[in-house]
Amino acid sequence: MAYTRELSFIYRDPTKIIFGENAVDNVGAEVDELGGTKALIVTDEGIVKTGLVERLEKALGDRCAGIFDQCTQDSGVHIVEKGYEFAKGKGVDILVSIGGGSVIDTAKGMAILLKEGGKLSDYSGFQLLERPITPHIVIPTTTGTGSEVTYAAVIKDHTAKTKLLFCDTYLIPNVAILDPTVVAGLPPKLTASTGMDALCHAIEAIHSLQREPIADALALHAIRLIMTNLPRCVEKGDDLVARGQMQIAATLAGIAFSNAQVGMVHALAHTVGGKYGVPHGIANAILLPHCIMYNLGECPDRYAMVAEAMGARKAGMSDMEAGEAAANAIWKLTKKMGLPQRLRDVGVPEDGLEECAEAALYDGSIVYNPKTIIDSQETLEVYKKAW
Ligand SMILES: [Fe+2]
Repeated sequence: MAYTRELSFIYRDPTKIIFGENAVDNVGAEVDELGGTKALIVTDEGIVKTGLVERLEKALGDRCAGIFDQCTQDSGVHIVEKGYEFAKGKGVDILVSIGGGSVIDTAKGMAILLKEGGKLSDYSGFQLLERPITPHIVIPTTTGTGSEVTYAAVIKDHTAKTKLLFCDTYLIPNVAILDPTVVAGLPPKLTASTGMDALCHAIEAIHSLQREPIADALALHAIRLIMTNLPRCVEKGDDLVARGQMQIAATLAGIAFSNAQVGMVHALAHTVGGKYGVPHGIANAILLPHCIMYNLGECPDRYAMVAEAMGARKAGMSDMEAGEAAANAIWKLTKKMGLPQRLRDVGVPEDGLEECAEAALYDGSIVYNPKTIIDSQETLEVYKKAW
């Protein structure tokens, strides 16, 4: 491939990452290092049932000030506010979130309010925080969102049926603990869909207008790890080696897109997620290959890199052909894992597409898409193909 002159870029990655089987049992030392004395466990009821919260509580010992387990699948402004009131009442000075992306994002919202107070929606947008917020240790129980290392949180306003986006470098968690034993029980469908979210982060970081070489390196390795290990995790959930490699992949992809951003796949997925409740990973998995085909002519060299990392590029293929092979490999992968492949199969009505196409233009991610999109006819075209 041809290497071109790099545009100027900034790379940031402040999270301390701890990887290893049973690493979660040493969380107390991380609380101490951050100067925390009253830790609140932020989680959901499903995680409580797995016994992980009890394990965490034991590991925290007398540092544990309480448990907030009211997080829901779609993180909500009202839940963040409830969690904040609970934490404030207990004098909490550090948060330890254990759960999927919604739990982590809820804790990010709580960390803002614990420091700044006021109304959460006032901080929705880009770089609105002026100082560090309450320290936050993350233990992800899914492998995909990358939320353990990203500067973003998506929190739904359930009344307005919209997703609020919070992007701020102060939202980046202080510590991420990746423990394969924590994710071993993740069901196959959730493993597959969250894993596809990670793949999407890696590919979107590569095609983004804000792409940069450090993010490229992280994203390309993430793609290699996902292609090998995601099907293994779906087939055999207790394969701790594959689970660990997927955790590493999701975190690499998370760091990559936190620096390089994501594009139209996420813009379109956020929109059908907000309006019709399509789970984030599933919406991404459906839309990703269609978006690659839509963008292909704009940056075939970038998709050729993706295809190479996926193992989908055959000798003699042009960049355009390699890009198409990458899209085909994604369809093959999602089919193999039993994920839905059309928006019509996940509750999106055909007559809702136009409204979604219009709304997606206002999603913050779309501006980083390699092909500039200013007309809703373009987003509609992709939605129709994915429907
Ligand atoms: Fe995502």
